[in-house]
Parts: sequence; C-alpha cells; structure tokens
Amino acid sequence: MLETLGLYPQWYVPVIGSAWVMGIIGTIHVLASHTSVGASWLFALIETKAVRENKPELMDYIKKYGLFLLVFSYIIGSITGPGIWYSVTVASPRGISGLIHNFVWVWATEWVFFFVEVIGVYALVYLIGKVDRRTHLKLTWSFAVASWATMILIVPILSFMMWPGNERWYETGSTLDAAFNLNYFAHLGVRTAFMFAIAGAVGGILAATMKNREVRVEITRFLSKMGLAGLFLGVVMWMWYVQTLPENARIIMETQMGPKYGKFLGGVLLAVLLYFLWTAWKPLQLRQGAAVAMTLVIGLFGLWPEERSRESIRKPYVAGQYIYSNQLISRDVPGKGVRSDLPLIESSGVLATHLFVPDELRKITPENQLRAGEFLTKTLCANCHGIEPDAVLRPLPALFGHSDEPRMIKAYLDGALYHGKVPYMPRLPLPEQEREAMAAYIASLSGGLSPLALAVHEPRTEGAH
Ligand code: HEC
Repeated sequence: MLETLGLYPQWYVPVIGSAWVMGIIGTIHVLASHTSVGASWLFALIETKAVRENKPELMDYIKKYGLFLLVFSYIIGSITGPGIWYSVTVASPRGISGLIHNFVWVWATEWVFFFVEVIGVYALVYLIGKVDRRTHLKLTWSFAVASWATMILIVPILSFMMWPGNERWYETGSTLDAAFNLNYFAHLGVRTAFMFAIAGAVGGILAATMKNREVRVEITRFLSKMGLAGLFLGVVMWMWYVQTLPENARIIMETQMGPKYGKFLGGVLLAVLLYFLWTAWKPLQLRQGAAVAMTLVIGLFGLWPEERSRESIRKPYVAGQYIYSNQLISRDVPGKGVRSDLPLIESSGVLATHLFVPDELRKITPENQLRAGEFLTKTLCANCHGIEPDAVLRPLPALFGHSDEPRMIKAYLDGALYHGKVPYMPRLPLPEQEREAMAAYIASLSGGLSPLALAVHEPRTEGAH
C-alpha cells in the first residue's frame, strides 16, 4: 500500500458550511464567557467600594447580577463550550489535534481555574450576608482572579492559531514557544479590554431594575465608566494587535475587508461609545430593554464580525501556519515530527492516498469523474467555500463567475492553486486527472458540460509542470 494522508472523513455542512457552525457557537460562547470574566472584575471592584465606603446596599446588585450570570452565562457557556469541542473536532480534526499536542497541559490548567470559577460564583452569591464582609471580599477577588486566569490560559491557544510568530517553535515544538507567540499579549489585551465593555453593557440589564435610586445611579455610572475604559483600551490594544499579525492576515484585511468594513466596525464602536456616555450622563433613563438591545448589538455587530474575521484573516491556515483549513499539512515541523502532505499529494494524488475514499473512486474513470470531482472539491475546498450556488460562505460557483466551462476552472487549479500563488488559499499540487475531475464537477454546479467534455477536448498533459 502507498503512504497515506492523515485526513479524516469530511464533515460537510450544506449552505452555511462547517465554518459558520463553529462561528455561531463560538460567538455565543465568547459573549457568555467574556460577560462572566468581565463581571467577576466588576463584582470585585464594586464590592471593594461597598466595603471601603460602607455601602452594603451595593451588594444587592452583585447578588442580582451573580444570579443572572449563573442562569445565563454559566449555563450558556457550559453548553457552548463543549459545543465548540464537538464542532471543531469534526470540522477540523487535525487542527484540534495540533492544538492538543501543544497545549494539553495548558488546557488542563485552564479547566482547574474554570472549576474554581464555577464554584466561586455559586459560593459568592450564596454567601452574601452569611459571612463577614472582608472574608466575602476575599472570595470575590479569588473569583475574579480565577476567572481572568481562564482567559490568560486560553488566549495562547487562540493566538497560536494565528501563528507562532517565531521560527523557533517549528524546531523545538515546545509549549512555551507556542504559548508566548508574537501576538499573545496584544490578543490578551484586546480581549481583556473588551470584556470590560461587554460586562458594562450586560450589567445594565440588571442595573436598570434596581429599586433603590441611589444604588441604581451609582452602579449605572460605574458600568458606564468601566465600559468607556474598556472601549478606549480595546481600541489601543487592537492597534497593537494588528501590528503582530502575519503577512497573509494583513493582505486579507486589506483586500477583503476594505474601508466599508472598517467604517462598519467604527460605527459599532461609536454606537457603544454614545451609549455609555448617555448612561453616564442620565443613568436613570436607562431601561432594561436598551441594555438588552446594546448587548445584542455588541454580540451581532461586534463579536460576530470579530470572530469571523479572526477566522478569515488566518487563511489559508487553521492553526500555527502549518495546518491548512482543509486539514492538509503545508510544511514540515521537525519539533513535532510532523511532515508536509504536499509532496505525497503531488506524487500520488488524494484519491489514492486518503484512507476514507470509497473504493469505486480510487481510480478516476469517465463514469465516476463527476463523483470523484465532488469528493475532491468537498474534501479540499468545502472547509472554506460553500458548494451550492446560494451558499453563504464564499460560494465556489460565484467565485468562478458561474462558469460552466471546465477548462477555465481548470486553468485556475493548474496555475494559482497548483503553485500556491494566492496568499489566502492553500497550495494544492494535485495530479492532472484530479484537477480535471474537480473542474468538471465545479462546472457542473453552474449547469456545465457533460463530465466527458473536458477529457475529450484536452489530451492529458501529465508532467507538464
Ligand atoms: C483555507 C481556505 C481555503 C481553501 C481550502 C480554498 N480556498 Fe478558495 N478562497 C479562500 C479565500 C479566503 C478566498 C477569498 C474569497 C473572497 O473573496 O471572499 C478564496 C477565493 C477563491 C476564488 C476566487 C478567486 C481568488 O483568487 O480570490 C476561487 C476561484 C477559489 N477560491 C477556488 C478554490 C477552490 C477550487 C478550492 C479547492 C481546491 C479552494 N478555493 C480552497 C480560501 C480558501
């Protein structure tokens, strides 16, 4: 038997693509988790004020928000957290394997802190008024530190996905070289800052319902200040973060996101800024509905595009600048004993070396050409592209101008893709026959010629590269 490719069966999600499934779950998770980490700091700061200035009535708010966190953030967070694991494991098995092989102990440590955090929030709510104030304050600060520790420990993994940023890791494979990657601190700064803004917005949902007017004014003003500080710091951190990105990410930002996208995000920031200024100025005008609306705005127009673009600018990689989104390994990583898949693909193709290919597709024939093309396209492109003409994620038919002409499509596979000329797409040195089959299939999506047409028009040109 030939050498095999380490690919798993493909999880194919029609129309929205597996990337959006992960994106949707991830965005909800970020909203829940950043809310709870931000809130833990809010509690610690407000409780410190309550103890120092002897204002026990402020504790009513912490009790209310704490209970709300328990019911919403922690339940939603604990459902979407494993949801991320399930979806990424099937959508990107080698991506997640790469991360586990680097970060297993970091993750284990993170779970310890998460455990402390969950117990902390129960204890904190339950013990208000039941233990002396100073003891309770210590508990709240421990909760805040444990919560933030989960973020400190998860961000190295997320930022390694962008890239290690140093050549050393590829040689050593060490966890520290992976964790202290080039964009770690900037990324941690961005998330820490924006978590304050998010917690400030979500906090308004409860602040608006406080019966005691003075408490309501004091808390709402506090939330506004925290939100404004988070927003300001977040923008500064973001500017730093952009400086730490790899070349491909900058190209994608320039070419695909453009000024319209920038204006849109600028508009969202401005809306959040005005909201916090308004609630600082007229705290009693804040109604629960407005705070809920602001939370949704941040989720839908802030976090969703942010999570989506972090995924986009990483292209063509899903992790470490060595695992492509379509799960192929693009380079040798001696530190991990990982070898590039590209030489094997170039010499033997995917159909002959991928373990999960149906036997009847091992060899391309005129009869199975379209099905082989479909298999290859779904395996190699569908992680990043929708196949259906009306798909939401970069639909392939549209990107080929709805061409039903296999030869035109094949020219792209022969040129740009074969030689890796597109900075945001993987290099795919496929054998001639596999490129033909894919071109025939992609053309058929736009009502193209019969699969045989290409083979008839063009004699094989094996080895022409
Ligand atoms: C790692 C992710 C990824 C994979 C895998 C991938 N592409 Fe792309 N592709 C992109 C991105 C990102 C764009 C930019 C699309 C946009 O404008 O939104 C793109 C654009 C394109 C375009 C438009 C022309 C261009 O150069 O911008 C074509 C055609 C295309 N891809 C074909 C393919 C085919 C065929 C495959 C499978 C063999 C494939 N892609 C696999 C990420 C990928």
